[in-house]
Amino acid sequence: MAVVSSETYSLPKGTGVTSRRELLKGSAATVVLALSPLKLTSRETSKSYSLIAKQSAHTFDETVKTNLWLYNRMCPGPLIEANQNDLLTVKFKNELDQPTTIHWHGIRNLNRMDGVPDLTQPAVEPGETFVYTFPVKDAGTFWYHAHNKSWEQVARGLYGPLIVRLAGGMPANRDILIVADDWALKNDLQLQEKTLGDLGDWSHGGRLGNSLTINGKFLPTIKVPSSGPIRLRILNAANARPFIFQISGTSEVKIIATDGSPCPQFVPEKIALGPAQRVDVLINDCSTIGDLLETSTGQAYVTAKFRRESDRNDIGNWDLSGKPFYEFPKLKEAKVVAIHMQGGAMGNLGSAEFEGAVRPLRDLAMKESKLWAFNGKIGGYSLNLADCSIGDTVILRVWNDTAWPHSMHLHGHHFWVKSTEFSSTERTILRDTYLMQPGERADLVFNADNPGLWLFHCHMLEHHAAGMGGVISVQT
Ligand code: C2O
Ligand code: CU
Repeated sequence: MAVVSSETYSLPKGTGVTSRRELLKGSAATVVLALSPLKLTSRETSKSYSLIAKQSAHTFDETVKTNLWLYNRMCPGPLIEANQNDLLTVKFKNELDQPTTIHWHGIRNLNRMDGVPDLTQPAVEPGETFVYTFPVKDAGTFWYHAHNKSWEQVARGLYGPLIVRLAGGMPANRDILIVADDWALKNDLQLQEKTLGDLGDWSHGGRLGNSLTINGKFLPTIKVPSSGPIRLRILNAANARPFIFQISGTSEVKIIATDGSPCPQFVPEKIALGPAQRVDVLINDCSTIGDLLETSTGQAYVTAKFRRESDRNDIGNWDLSGKPFYEFPKLKEAKVVAIHMQGGAMGNLGSAEFEGAVRPLRDLAMKESKLWAFNGKIGGYSLNLADCSIGDTVILRVWNDTAWPHSMHLHGHHFWVKSTEFSSTERTILRDTYLMQPGERADLVFNADNPGLWLFHCHMLEHHAAGMGGVISVQT
């Protein structure tokens, strides 16, 4: 069984949740209590987890053991849950034999907790620990993943879901997590390691797999109540493959949140998710629900089956009409940052600047594995894209002048975008990752309200590694 709901997705031993009472044993917490008596209510305000990254065996199909790199031996990693405005603490230990970090994707985080090695923290070396601790001010569907050599570490399984809950949400049996991944497996179900780092993949659409899993399983059965509304939180954890899902047997499927942020409910033409994106979907009545289908290749594949169960068929009055994390900003005096994306196979980039010198793309590809550029420069953590001041309204004016789609992600902020991802009609939504088609131009508009050095990169992780990334600086 591969049902992953907050109810059944239990954490392994040693991954306890600390209650507020335990926290208050510490003297620092007592001071907080004395200073802000109004902030503490009867609900918990602190959640603690531990994560260990380690080589582990996993079964996609209940028979063969596949060697992966996992958090707490789980695929996906354990569900991390908190309530809105909690302080989340994750004690992390690296038991891999290479350095790593954890990035909390979609959390408008403290910069020093953002988990980008050599930019926001030193990488966590093998055997070392690092404690991530940060407040979660937004409720929604997020995730966490390795951010060092992510093209390899995420491909090997280092990621998991993170849900921040809002008081008054749906009960656990109606709130269902669907984590999709695309694995490159050999016939013996071991990871195809030979193609990790393959330049052909890096210059094309990234490393695509051949085996789709939902919640770490092939074709799992997902329990749902026998009738009434359900909420599906769908996450694309694939390195490079965009998915298009369909849910058979249902007449009304609405999108209610994009990348965690609530949006006015709408009926999509397709449930599309680029790598790293999330959508929350509301199905008003699940009494005729069938299968979860994936259709991005033009053919419909059943990827999971829903099974209705008659227990606990309680219907409540749940509030699902959240507001976006923040309103569309005023564009008067906005700072415009032009980002011209070039490179890759069948592209128009002949040469680019890398570490101060302009070199032919062919040479950069062969000697440096660099293939993509922003504004004529191969990207990386040292490429500064913009200097912003706190409070600025910023427009990233992005032009995908390549032959490939790209899933563009901004750290530390959500941005507004006129999205054509769900239908040909434009829809202005708030997200942290935008799937851009070849030739597309888009304005990503955000309030620079979070100080620090923030990465902006393609979440097709091979593209990121091959130069499609840079830094936006927000100074106080
Ligand atoms: Cu989910 Cu920089 O990434
Ligand atoms: Cu890309």
